[in-house]
Amino acid sequence: MSDAATRPAHGPGSAWDTPEAVGRVESAYRADDVTRVRSAQIDLLGSLDGLRVLDVGAGPGIFARDLALRGARVTAMDSAPAMLEAARAEAARAGVELELLQGDASAPPVEDGAFDAAVVVQVVEYVPDAVGCLAAVARAVRPGGSLLVCDTDWTTAAWGIADTALAERVKAGWCATKEHPDAGRRIPDWLEAAGCRIVAWEPRLLAVADAAGDTFHAHTWPSYRSTLERSGALTATELERFQALCLEATAAGRFSFTVVRHGWLARVGGGAP
Ligand SMILES: C[S@@+](CC[C@H](N)C(=O)[O-])C[C@H]1O[C@@H](n2cnc3c(N)ncnc32)[C@H](O)[C@@H]1O
Repeated sequence: MSDAATRPAHGPGSAWDTPEAVGRVESAYRADDVTRVRSAQIDLLGSLDGLRVLDVGAGPGIFARDLALRGARVTAMDSAPAMLEAARAEAARAGVELELLQGDASAPPVEDGAFDAAVVVQVVEYVPDAVGCLAAVARAVRPGGSLLVCDTDWTTAAWGIADTALAERVKAGWCATKEHPDAGRRIPDWLEAAGCRIVAWEPRLLAVADAAGDTFHAHTWPSYRSTLERSGALTATELERFQALCLEATAAGRFSFTVVRHGWLARVGGGAP
């Protein structure tokens, strides 16, 4: 059995718990295209001054850092120790305080109602029981508090390259590797099933015009490529050709990669907002 097949899906020893994953997520999430989406998603929460916020699946702490820079008292929770180490370094660099907590998004190890708000960003697409996870996170939030859930709808991914059929096959192959490829558009149903009430929606296009520079696409593609090759969806030759077409289109100034990222804000339980 391959290494990938025997690894846990998350937490210690998982593919998230590696320097490679930390480096990929950090560099991709620092890129301008992702930074613009993150800023709009955080805007959904309104004023954060002094609020206690739980960031579930915080990764290397970039979203948590930005919450703290806006005045929130943030607990950054993740199941992968390597991600928490990176979040510690991120907080030190930014001069903000983050409380770090190791825990599973499906059962956060915190008291019921301990937080004014919780955020779950780019995590629920990986969690088999999305409703159970969001219900567990909602319990950590006081009645009337906020739950912000953001995720990608990978079924909307599109690459502006000459071979559109190949781009479609890359999309289908990538979606097949996901627990919930269409997570972004399913969040409102999941939130309602978890007992929350939707109050705002912020759809954002993650739009990339450069397959080689400091962009989400450039930082994530090497890992996506090996995942696609391992899955058998495309051959190494097809993936090499896809990459060459992306670079060719970039050099000609006509590359585009777009995918929709949804942000859904919900109110938890009863009580005053
Ligand atoms: C793509 S990163 C997102 C990081 C961060 N939320 C952001 O948007 O900047 C996904 C993170 O979720 C974490 N994760 C995945 N499944 C988890 C689970 N069941 N419990 C806790 N963390 C989980 C991974 O360790 C990883 O750090």
